[in-house]
Amino acid sequence: MAANGPRVRKPGDRSRDAATAPPAGAELARLGRAARKCRACPLWEHATQTVFGQGPADASLMFVGEQAGDREDLDGHPFVGPAGRLLDGALAEVGIERSGIYVTNVIKHFKFELRGKRRLHKRANAAEIDACLRWLRAEIDCVRPRHVVCLGALAARVMLGAAFKLQQNRGRWFEIGDGRWCLATVHPSFVLRSRIGGGYEETYRAFVADLARVRRPPA
Ligand code: URA
Repeated sequence: MAANGPRVRKPGDRSRDAATAPPAGAELARLGRAARKCRACPLWEHATQTVFGQGPADASLMFVGEQAGDREDLDGHPFVGPAGRLLDGALAEVGIERSGIYVTNVIKHFKFELRGKRRLHKRANAAEIDACLRWLRAEIDCVRPRHVVCLGALAARVMLGAAFKLQQNRGRWFEIGDGRWCLATVHPSFVLRSRIGGGYEETYRAFVADLARVRRPPA
């Protein structure tokens, strides 16, 4: 490489150009602050706060969920409510330390409708998803994970394309460019709902089996 020429990053190269790029941690903190002021869609208005991603700025593994929930909205961090607790338990079973992974969502604000005093989760629409994607893209550019795990169909569609069929392709690694690999599994809330709908043990075991594949990612 020419000494003064532009730096060409090879796929999988996670190093930074110290002369031009801020350290990943500082850049991520800057992004988080900017996201807190985001008004790109109306969701900020009723939400308590932006729920930005959390985890090491140099994590090689990133988990992407759908949308901050009620607890996350109040707490300000992703996956801290019931779905997060289920995820934590499943990660512990397969020996993945949550503290070592970067965890985020496609949608950074809680969208809900009021039923009495209860705030019931509402799906974000296409314009809201579109408006929020800038933050996920920025997080990926900054953290540069080598492996990305999608939790649920929305994250899978965003990362693997609109035609991605979750039930057919869950638990498999796909190369997505830049030396990066992506695997999708069901959302932990789907597993939780099976406690009521039936088949919980099977649904949970299948989720854990998908996460066990995350333990053995492609090189
Ligand atoms: N569901 C999600 O998709 N993300 C969270 O952070 C919490 C629940």
